[in-house]
Amino acid sequence: MTFPPGFLWGAATAAHQVEGNNVNSDWWALEHAPETPVVEASGDACDSYHRWPEDMDLLADAGFTDYRFSIEWARIEPAPGEFLAGQLDHYRRMVDGAVERGLRPLVTLHHFTNPRWFASGGGWTSPDAAELFARYVEAVLPVIASDVDHVVTINEPNVLVMFARAHPDAVSEGLFAAHAAARDILRASVPGVNVGWSIACQNFYPEPGAEQVCEAFADTNEMRFVAASAEDDFVGVQAYTHTRVGVEDGRAMRTGVPDGCDVTQTGWEYYPDALGDAVRSTAAVAGVPIVVTENGIATSDDERRIGYTGTALAGLRRAMDDGVDVRGYFHWSLLDSYEWGRYDRTFGLVSVDRETFERKPKLSLRWLGPMGGRHGT
Ligand code: BGC
Repeated sequence: MTFPPGFLWGAATAAHQVEGNNVNSDWWALEHAPETPVVEASGDACDSYHRWPEDMDLLADAGFTDYRFSIEWARIEPAPGEFLAGQLDHYRRMVDGAVERGLRPLVTLHHFTNPRWFASGGGWTSPDAAELFARYVEAVLPVIASDVDHVVTINEPNVLVMFARAHPDAVSEGLFAAHAAARDILRASVPGVNVGWSIACQNFYPEPGAEQVCEAFADTNEMRFVAASAEDDFVGVQAYTHTRVGVEDGRAMRTGVPDGCDVTQTGWEYYPDALGDAVRSTAAVAGVPIVVTENGIATSDDERRIGYTGTALAGLRRAMDDGVDVRGYFHWSLLDSYEWGRYDRTFGLVSVDRETFERKPKLSLRWLGPMGGRHGT
């Protein structure tokens, strides 16, 4: 399989899932709440806050040319308006560290977690949410002022809306406004930067009888976020599986995975064609280039990871041959990391010992790394 010159070829992580000790975030608070729904707390995660050079070495040595990581708002602005220069320096060192290793950094500004003060002030439902996010984006400009070609403003806004505990419409409004504000600031301040957001592409498809309600359901939960990318420079596609939609009392609903289906550790249907399907449906709506910002599988069986990813990439390649404009692929994830409430669902190309933090590359890392062909570096 070959990819065009300049194609981004990397793996992805997110700050809260790998850094550890993200104590000022709303997720840390949730993990320690008296009746928390999470199975285990994130703790030290993979200690990547300190060990990021080792993570980047693994990636670059395996043949990848790109790294998607996120910067943590809760660390940078632990109290309203109080921006910590040391934390900004930390993330700038990561950008420089990536470049030194021949890795092009793709930086995500918001990956699910918020500073506690932002969450307790109403989070995305607050009338000044977009303004507060914009102030954070202004503050992080030094981190991305040079050497960063791609920025994801907000990871999976559609998932944030789906999981909103209250007022999903207000959450959605806040996210759209924050994304647009961030895009304007970045375009005005960082010449040549490509800005987008990354969407959870769920490949909704109707069970018999649900055809009519399915389209509106897909629009509410995904396509309106994709459509908003029309003004961006790219759209991030994140695809793992597909989602069956049924109908009950005239309303669309997810029907879950039928008995007997092959599932992964997350309980999602094993469906590697998710990636090809997702880039095709996204391209039809977005009208801007696509970067695959996440694709992968939770499994303890690394051969299954290789099988899944090989089939997913073949589907991606076919879509590209059919004219879909895809500019890059980031595997989720570089490391076995904190999977939002637990550690026993492993997406990594590299395993991490939970006590010593020793990294052990899996065969999949060595298999996938060279496949991109070191384009563009
Ligand atoms: C998220 C990641 C997550 C992955 C697997 C995506 O929705 O962006 O943070 O680990 O899916 O669940």
